Amino acid sequence: MKKEEIVREGYNQIAPHFGVFRSQFSNEQELEFLCSLLPENAKILDVGCGTGIPVVRYLVRKGYGVTGVDISGKMLELARKNVPEAEYFRYDMNELDFEDSSFHGITALYSLFHVPKEKHFDVFRNFYRMLKPEGVLFFCVGPEGGDDLSQFLGGIDMFWSNYPPEKTTELVKEAGFNVLFEEVLDRGDELQFWVFAQKE
Ligand SMILES: C[S@@+](CC[C@H](N)C(=O)[O-])C[C@H]1O[C@@H](n2cnc3c(N)ncnc32)[C@H](O)[C@@H]1O
Repeated sequence: MKKEEIVREGYNQIAPHFGVFRSQFSNEQELEFLCSLLPENAKILDVGCGTGIPVVRYLVRKGYGVTGVDISGKMLELARKNVPEAEYFRYDMNELDFEDSSFHGITALYSLFHVPKEKHFDVFRNFYRMLKPEGVLFFCVGPEGGDDLSQFLGGIDMFWSNYPPEKTTELVKEAGFNVLFEEVLDRGDELQFWVFAQKE
């Protein structure tokens, strides 16, 4: 089975329980920093938006126009209920086809690491294409390289894939971005590699 299908089916099953798990992780500090880089009324694309909480809700409350995309129909159903002020589409992030220069910001929290790492560069290139000049990309991936097909949240099959941080940074730069911030941070007792990057 295609890895993205494993992930989609997994999140369709996890969806009703995801909110409780997610509430352990606060990313408020990073989201605040993101907002400091964005113009008023910015248009943001949240990739792998999940249930819409906390990221879409945070950004909508700041007055931004938010588009959420996710591969899982069940996660999107919850997002539509939780934060109806945003617009949502079911999309695999490998196939996003919004117009060039559509967004001031693109966020992808805890989602890119579900895409096979060999595809990360193309995803970065496509993010770059869809961002406006000076647009900001904010994402995290795992802190170590490797592929992992294992069980998540009570035995649901899940797939993760990451390059080591140095390689991720290299790909982000190769895609055309200036890296503003890159660091492994501990959030909710979990380490992830967090990156802010800006289109020239
Ligand atoms: C760990 S959750 C994080 C959700 C949200 N970003 C958050 O911070 O709470 C990962 C989300 O990414 C979505 N996802 C995984 N692979 C994806 C892909 N290829 N395209 C779009 N969404 C994807 C999953 O369906 C799931 O909703």
